[in-house]
Amino acid sequence: MKKMLFTAGCAALLAGGPVLAANPVAGKEKSKTCAACHGPDGNSAAADFPRLAGQHYDYLVKALADYKAGERKNAIMAPQAANLSQRDIEDLAAFYSRQAGLSVKY
Ligand code: HEC
Repeated sequence: MKKMLFTAGCAALLAGGPVLAANPVAGKEKSKTCAACHGPDGNSAAADFPRLAGQHYDYLVKALADYKAGERKNAIMAPQAANLSQRDIEDLAAFYSRQAGLSVKY
């Protein structure tokens, strides 16, 4: 069943639909559990946690779907993504992709 949902999500992605369907306001609400590590707007304070702000929508959707499916393995992110629905993933990606990324100072 999970695999079916994932496949359906991929099909929807290929069709180019979810960008319009995704809701960044709902994504902000859903991002509260992510904020501890990634920062409230996706600009994480610690280098250990990747910045999500301003990242491409498609990239975020793929990263989360891959953690969920076990295609991308990470002990911290796997449980974070495990319970996300395709809709959650799209909403979260819509939220983070709309945040301004801080300029990185080296
Ligand atoms: C306990 C800390 C923690 C929490 C909570 C957390 N993350 Fe992460 N996240 C990480 C770490 C560490 C990585 C880097 C993992 C890796 O190298 O694959 C990561 C990676 C990611 C990536 C991939 C970024 C990239 O540049 O490839 C995305 C997307 C992401 N997290 C989204 C989320 C979302 C959405 C939530 C909330 C549902 C969340 N994370 C909650 C620690 C966390």
